Amino acid sequence: MPNIDPKKLPQHVAVIMDGNGRWAKMRGMHRVRGHEKGAEVVREIVRTSREIGISWLTLYAFSEENWKRPKTEVTALMKLLKRFLKDELKEMQENGIRLNAIGRIDKLPEDTRSTLFEIIEKTASNKDMVLTLALSYGGRQEIIDAIRKIAIKIEKHSMAPFDITEELVSAFLYTADMPDPDLLIRTSGEYRISNFLLWQVAYTEIYVTTALWPDFGRDEYLAAIQDFQKRERRFGATNSRE
Ligand code: FPP
Repeated sequence: MPNIDPKKLPQHVAVIMDGNGRWAKMRGMHRVRGHEKGAEVVREIVRTSREIGISWLTLYAFSEENWKRPKTEVTALMKLLKRFLKDELKEMQENGIRLNAIGRIDKLPEDTRSTLFEIIEKTASNKDMVLTLALSYGGRQEIIDAIRKIAIKIEKHSMAPFDITEELVSAFLYTADMPDPDLLIRTSGEYRISNFLLWQVAYTEIYVTTALWPDFGRDEYLAAIQDFQKRERRFGATNSRE
């Protein structure tokens, strides 16, 4: 494996895949062509993650805010997602990859949603890596959904306000069974979190590259992992002995 220390791998890598539209525009193409190329890069990153031994990979594939895009683009993205899932099933089965989804999944079109559930079910017993797609996902919406569920429990007296701890809040998020991300990668040079995993990235290392998502690939990804391996994580503590 090229200069990757297997003992210092991030357990969970999350990615904000940005720049598909710009990539297409620079080439005089329709934005959808950028998403299509972006989907090919998703394949490469999933494959590379599995190969180097990443346990959790989470991709921001469609945000709550993305519903505001032109209908043609939204429809194309949903179709692309469905095709990607169908095409990837074989590889996921062969490589022990379990599919997972977070977000307000009920808002997805029926055919995309049923394909998603079908693949989640078929890959449910795979144990080597979890690929989570954030779909119709918003970090604030996720926190609101968690607060609502907690409030209902308090209203029913099955929980008291002082039962609310960090662990409890985490357990009510869409990511309840997942570790927090160790590394967050964002492409296309923007220094923003864009409503992605707001609670979960509290101590996450952030890596921003100027590469647009369709130009991102195995080498760029490995460079991000290498950069992560050079960092010293303190989680708010100090390593000073003085
Ligand atoms: C951002 O580019 C990307 C998205 C809104 C969606 C990400 C989708 C893919 C990578 C392809 C399909 C996904 C899967 C899982 C098959 P942008 O359109 O915001 O780019 P821009 O900022 O340059 O306009």
